[in-house]
Amino acid sequence: MPVPETLRAVPLFAHLGPAELARVASAVRERSYPKNSVILFEDDPGDALYVVVAGQVKVVLIGEDGREVILAVLGEGDFFGEMSLIDDQPRSAHVIAMDDARLLVLRREDFHRALDETPRIALGLLRALSQRLRRADDKIGALVLLDVFGRVAQVWLDLSEEADDGLITRRVTHHMIAQMIGSTRETVSRTMRTLAERGLIEVTRKGIRIADRKALRAAARLP
Ligand code: CMP
Repeated sequence: MPVPETLRAVPLFAHLGPAELARVASAVRERSYPKNSVILFEDDPGDALYVVVAGQVKVVLIGEDGREVILAVLGEGDFFGEMSLIDDQPRSAHVIAMDDARLLVLRREDFHRALDETPRIALGLLRALSQRLRRADDKIGALVLLDVFGRVAQVWLDLSEEADDGLITRRVTHHMIAQMIGSTRETVSRTMRTLAERGLIEVTRKGIRIADRKALRAAARLP
């Protein structure tokens, strides 16, 4: 797909006119990253913003004992690497390719030029950062207020937001969920069995189906 078309599908750039899109498109470069490669290292200086064209990446913190905490999983149309460009601080986390990934890269000076020339990008950026903060707030709340059952319920509700007709086809392992909610793979597997036995979710060959959204929301203490 031509770069302007790809950019139009990215919420951050969706409201731009053709001339504005063309300007941004001329500044970005496409790069491929193989599965499991580290795209950004925590604490490195930041020199570019990235947009995911294909594949998934995870935003992670890695503890001194090697344990990983997954802060977010980003897919097609999402962007990352903006924080260091905005506050001039080092990278806040590692970003690692979960599949072979294709990304568009916008260098720091081109990002700042785009913001100067096209203030609507700044509005899109603020909107996306607000959404990210909401998600982070939900997670902090869940870590403090919910048991593992509720936290796992929240993960599936979260994933279902981007799923068609309640079927979540995104590949998410129990190990990954454990890394998202601060638990163990064994506990997550046990919880998944309970959720299925109680009819809140249905595990099918195609993915996970939300079977009882109301009960799932109650488990996650959502209205
Ligand atoms: P930066 O700090 O430049 O590099 C790491 C990137 O990970 C960061 O910018 C954000 O783009 C992204 N990131 C950090 N924390 C989160 C989060 N909680 N949710 C989604 N993305 C994040």
